[in-house]
Amino acid sequence: MKVLAIQGSYRNNGKTSSMLKYAIKRAKELGHKVTELNLFEKRLDYCKSCGKCDETGQCVYTNDDIEEITSLIKNTDVIILAAPVYWGNVPAIVKNLFDRMVGASMKHTKAFPMPRLSGKRYILLTACHTKAPFDKIFGQSSGIAKNAKEFFKTAGVKEIGMAVCDDTNNREIVPNKILAKVNKLVERI
Ligand SMILES: Cc1cc2nc3c(=O)[nH]c(=O)nc-3n(C[C@H](O)[C@H](O)[C@H](O)COP(=O)(O)O)c2cc1C
Repeated sequence: MKVLAIQGSYRNNGKTSSMLKYAIKRAKELGHKVTELNLFEKRLDYCKSCGKCDETGQCVYTNDDIEEITSLIKNTDVIILAAPVYWGNVPAIVKNLFDRMVGASMKHTKAFPMPRLSGKRYILLTACHTKAPFDKIFGQSSGIAKNAKEFFKTAGVKEIGMAVCDDTNNREIVPNKILAKVNKLVERI
């Protein structure tokens, strides 16, 4: 399978980055072809809501890296998105990517949106300060899961599953138990 590993945290030594590095290692060991994409190495302007992408299926503002990123997403089978919880949501850089991909991900119809990325699947790797089970109860990890799903589900991208490193203030490293969960998800690719 072709796997696109997207880093959506600025911190290269953070918890989501560690989870992603481990997922990449396991995916390679299992024979998948992994491409790495660090969103912080790319330039992405904001969505202008011009609506032109609804027809073209592609953002028409091409003077940044949106074409390259969209092409990577269109050409993969599986997306592994590593994104920490920021305000119960994905970080702004990831939200901005979702916004810029509105036309690439779906087409409006008179009824339900028509997905444009069907056949792909995704894994979400996330981390938050809030300790379990409060991260789920109070909309922290459950918030990012819901918001990421809004994009992927509308795009026709099915969820493989998610792994959460909770309580990050009190952890030096991602515990083996959580890495084992990451491993299980990668084995389901
Ligand atoms: C801007 C910002 C917003 C955050 N919002 C939340 C939040 O809503 N809930 C939470 O539990 N942690 C929140 N955190 C904490 C991060 O999720 C936590 O530090 C996480 O480990 C960061 O991931 P990283 O180690 O991969 O960088 C926030 C951190 C930042 C910088």
